[in-house]
Amino acid sequence: MKILVVGGGGREHALAWKLRRDTPGARLFCAPGNAGTATLGENLPIAADDLDRLLDWAQREKPDLTVVGPEAPLCAGLADRFRDAGLTVFGPGAKAAQLEGSKRFAKEVMLAAGVPTAASEVFTDAAAAIARVRRGPGPYVVKADGLAAGKGVTICATALEAECAIDAALNRRAFGDAGRTVLVEEFLDGEEASILALVDGERVVPLASSQDHKRAFDGNRGPNTGGMGAYSPAPVVREDVWPIIRARILEPTLAELRRRGVEYRGVLYAGLMFTADGPKVLEFNCRFGDPETQALLPRWDGDLGAALMACAEGRLDSSSIRWRPEACVTVVMAAGGYPGAYRKGDEIRGLDEAARATGAIVFHAGTEMRDGKVVTAGGRVLNVTALGADIREARDRAYAAVARIRFADAHWRTDIADRALRPNLPWETKSL
Ligand code: AMP
Ligand code: GLY
Repeated sequence: MKILVVGGGGREHALAWKLRRDTPGARLFCAPGNAGTATLGENLPIAADDLDRLLDWAQREKPDLTVVGPEAPLCAGLADRFRDAGLTVFGPGAKAAQLEGSKRFAKEVMLAAGVPTAASEVFTDAAAAIARVRRGPGPYVVKADGLAAGKGVTICATALEAECAIDAALNRRAFGDAGRTVLVEEFLDGEEASILALVDGERVVPLASSQDHKRAFDGNRGPNTGGMGAYSPAPVVREDVWPIIRARILEPTLAELRRRGVEYRGVLYAGLMFTADGPKVLEFNCRFGDPETQALLPRWDGDLGAALMACAEGRLDSSSIRWRPEACVTVVMAAGGYPGAYRKGDEIRGLDEAARATGAIVFHAGTEMRDGKVVTAGGRVLNVTALGADIREARDRAYAAVARIRFADAHWRTDIADRALRPNLPWETKSL
């Protein structure tokens, strides 16, 4: 059995870690991987978005399964090209991946399917967009249509902030072509959670709930990042809301895609806001969340490779997916300066001590081996993860492991999962 994991961040280390545990005999490859995946299999010097070289390698090596982590290669058609070449690949084709690749497309699908989401208008002309936000009432959320590495969304408290965000995207091309079209969206208030579901073209199997922390600093302050931590399960996703999520969000979205002749195979990720009127979709992603995956996979109590293979082959069986009762928390340790310009090449010490901490697993994100040492190589460096009897214990264990790790100018949030510990979430008083 040969498995290729495409990508090189914490999500891919977590996927490789779980695949290695479940399928000890497999030959595991990561393209390009990181210092963590190098301990589990073989890193290939191929970038995750180099479709030609990935396909070339796969046609020679014939992996039994390819698991694609990031969105860019999926939106660029990696899964289509692999499937056309007769390879088994976990991930949607380019058309289905447009649910993430174009927020405008996602809105059209949701509107047609009657899926609850924020009201929004689409603009390519800055003057028209600015005239719209000046009419109020706000607050608004301005979103670049295309892929912008998590940075294309601006929450604007005032019309002036919205004007700046519109100007940046449409006039100054801050997000390149991804921002040639913007959505001006109604601001939704509530609690967020991430719902990831496996979809095999037909069947939908939701995974355990999770929640990430997008802002850089404690108290949800500072700029948006790729994610500073996550936990699973998310207490906002009570047992009684699962049928609502399935019936009002997941099933109608997939039915509408099917109506358009688009088949979905892979992870359908719905970022939800639990508003006073019930769950509404903030965004769809076409892949495993990062860092949600790092908090989900340690809780997954089944054979990940078998499930992803079954999903890719259109024969998913929900009974094969079980969850451990423990909670899991992952804390991102970032490089000095992140999410702005950051340092690289600093030696990381204490990894072995951290891995020995009770319940802890250290997933690498931006790391590489240099002269036999693990050094920083990206903005988000490590995802220090721990299982515990409940969120509190998992969080305490994750932070105990963080305390054992040192590298220059490391920074991390100290309040990951705190929100999940609050006794009274505001939405709990309201009926969905
Ligand atoms: P997205 O990439 O669309 O998920 O947006 C990134 C983050 O911006 C989300 O996780 C939310 O925290 C926030 N966000 C996006 N859209 C809205 C909205 N309509 N109302 C409030 N917050 C939003
Ligand atoms: N955690 C957000 C994302 O994966 O897009």
